[in-house]
Formats: sequence, C-alpha cells, structure tokens
Amino acid sequence: MKIGIDKIGFYAPHLYVDMNNLAVARNVEPEKFTIGIGQEKMAIAPITQDPVTLAANAALGMIDEQDKESIDFVIFGTESGIDHSKSAGVYVHRLLGLNPYARTIELKQACYGATAAIQMAKGHVALNPKSKVLVLASDIARYGLNTSGESTQGAGAVALLISADPKILALEDNSAYMTDDIMDFWRPIYSDKAFVDGKFSNEQYILFFQKVWEEYKSKSGLGLADFEAICFHLPYTKMGLKALRTILDQGSEEDQERLLANYKISTIYNKNVGNIYTGSLYLSLLSLLEKMEEMEEGSRIGLFSYGSGAVGEFFTGVLQPNYSSYLNMSQHEELFNSRTEVTVPEYEEIFEKTLPVDGSTIELDIDNDPAVICLSGVQDNMRLYVNKLK
Ligand code: CAA
Repeated sequence: MKIGIDKIGFYAPHLYVDMNNLAVARNVEPEKFTIGIGQEKMAIAPITQDPVTLAANAALGMIDEQDKESIDFVIFGTESGIDHSKSAGVYVHRLLGLNPYARTIELKQACYGATAAIQMAKGHVALNPKSKVLVLASDIARYGLNTSGESTQGAGAVALLISADPKILALEDNSAYMTDDIMDFWRPIYSDKAFVDGKFSNEQYILFFQKVWEEYKSKSGLGLADFEAICFHLPYTKMGLKALRTILDQGSEEDQERLLANYKISTIYNKNVGNIYTGSLYLSLLSLLEKMEEMEEGSRIGLFSYGSGAVGEFFTGVLQPNYSSYLNMSQHEELFNSRTEVTVPEYEEIFEKTLPVDGSTIELDIDNDPAVICLSGVQDNMRLYVNKLK
C-alpha cells in the first residue's frame, strides 16, 4: 500500500519586513542577508497570530468536509508551544470542526517535530488504511532584535494530509536517522527567545546531513543519480546549499546541475518567509512542487530534516501521477501577493508586543488581521480564538 502526502496547505502571516531594509537598520551590507544568508523577506507574526492560528489557517485552506470526517489523528509539531500541558492541536481540532473521534497530540524535537509526526502518521495509516492524519507544523522563530540570529527569524505553518493512495508524494520505506545530545540551539521554558551557538549549529547541521546521507545510501543502495531534487530544512536558504555542496562531487556533471537548479527552486518560498522551524522542510518541498514546471511521475525527492539538539533524518518520496493538479498554487500565490510590508521600526514594535504572562486580561483588535482564524485575546489565563467564518 502506498502512503504519503495527499494534500499540502500553507499559511504565513500577512506582514513582512524587507531584508535589505533590515540590513541597513543593522548597519550591515544588504548582500550579507540577501546573498550570505540568502533571505529576501521575513514574515512577521502580529500579536493576533500564534502557532495555533497559523496552523489552523494553513489547514483551513486545504481540507474539505470529507477530510474533516476521515481525519482521526491530529499531530501538531512545534517548538513554539503555548502550553506545557494542553496540545496546540486540540485548539485546531475545534477551530476546524473536525470529527470528535480523533486522537490529538503535540510533538516536540525542535525543527524535526513534523518529520516525526509524518513517520508516526505513516505507521498509523499502515494499520488503519482508511484513516487520514492531519500533520501540522507551525512556529514563530524569535532570536531577538539586534542579535546574530535576527536575520533568520520568520513565522508560518504547513499542514499535511497523510493518507493511503496519496495524490502528491508517496513516502518510501528507506530512511536514515540519528540522534546526538548537543547544545547548538535551545529554548529554556522561561524564555520566549531561542539561544543559539550559530557557527556550531551550522557545522552540526552539515555533519548530520553527511552522516544520514551516507547511512541512507548504504541502506538503500541509491545515489545522487536517483534523485530529481533534494529538499532541506531551511533555517535560511544558504544553509541547505552549504550541505548539498559537500556531497555533489558524488554525482555526474548532469546530476550536479539538476540538483543545484532544483535546489534553487525549492528555496523560493523560504527566501520570502524566513525560518518557520518545523514547517521549513515542507515549505521547501511545496516551493519545489509549485514553482517547478511539472516533474515526471515517479521522480524521487530526497528530504533532509534537522532538529537542533539534535535529531536528523534523510527520507524520500516519489511523485504521483498529475500531482500538480492537487496543489493549491493560486491560493498560495494570492497569499504571497497580498502581504503588507512593514518598516523596521514597525517590525520592532510588533516584536516587542507580547501577551501578558501575569494572568491579566487583554482584548486584541483582529480587524486589521486578514486571517480567517485569529487570537482575539487572553482571559483567565486562557487564549481566546476566533474563526471569522463561524
Ligand atoms: N556579501 C555576501 N556575503 C556576505 C557578506 C556580503 N557583503 N557579508 C557576509 N557575507 C556572508 C558570510 O561570508 C557568510 O557566508 P558563509 O556562511 O557562506 O561563509 C554569511 O554571509 C553569514 O555571515 P556570518 O557567518 O558572519 O553571519 P553571522 O555570524 O552574523 O550569523 C548565523 C549567521 C550563524 C546563521 C546566524 O544567523 C544564526 O545564529 N542563526 C540562527 C541559527 C541557525 O539558523 N543555524 C542553522 C543550523 S541549526 C538549524 O537548522 C535549526 C534551526 O532551524 C535553528
């Protein structure tokens, strides 16, 4: 039985800052951010969007009434959790009006969480072929104003429907994964910003990629010639390129040209959104699928997932017939085209505006947020969510 990605949804908040303007404000050459880091625009979450609303908005544009009935498992991968106890997925379950007879959980291992969710979903569908699993990957990346990580912030969510006989990408069984206890990036529970050892995190990302790639090759007997494209977790778009370059000499000139050209296409969306942590790899996959002209049915796509701390995995999927007719390209194009640019001072003001942590009540103005699902306030230590369509 084939199991894999049947549908993909995406949402990013409607605000962004231009990286050229951020560079000027931070007194660095714009090329450092646009070429050295490889980012053009950074999505900014207004206070009325949090990981729950981003995920719900991503799924809203993707699922239909039949999916709502068939989904019996919701797995929410995030490293921006809003509660130590309650899963962010339970809010989304209600906001989307899903079938009550569903399991809902939250999964955490930095940016790797959604990959763990997909593998868990695959196992669930193998045992329950009629089931559909909603995998949500949603985060807001925050390092702080004027920090070296600032240019690699972002916000957004990807929603994936995992099912039997998937219409987009069938996941293959060969997969290589590894764990090593390192401190390259972490966020203690008392902090709303990440701590990072930037250079070390870059080195470890590449090392993990090289190790799981070698392990994958020995498990599968496949090599670069067998891949149409390789998508990467993209904390910033230069990162995947650095890793890819370290293995390119294993392929022919033709392989190298193809993989580099397709890598570039797989970074278009990420360049314009920034790091969305758990969703980054899947945003890159979406970019490849939606921005590349039709790839041949049966083409193999490699996926490298990396979650600091750290867990890495290399796995693969095979494109299904007419996959492109099942994508929501026009919806995503409209999302990108309707965004609003904010100035650097406006971005700084939005960044500093945070929810109360002392139990006080706050009512938020959701009229300026075009998203269907918004955070409308906090009362009695509870976040209040609104679906404007209901
Ligand atoms: N023109 C062109 N390029 C320029 C330039 C210019 N004028 N000025 C500088 N550059 C280049 C540099 O040469 C460098 O390129 P290389 O890496 O290819 O050598 C690049 O711009 C970045 O410059 P620096 O290394 O000096 O940048 P930095 O030290 O200020 O910060 C960073 C870079 C370490 C990535 C930092 O942004 C950071 O800590 N980010 C958060 C951590 C992160 O994203 N790590 C990635 C791996 S961990 C992971 O993947 C998990 C996750 O999601 C967080």
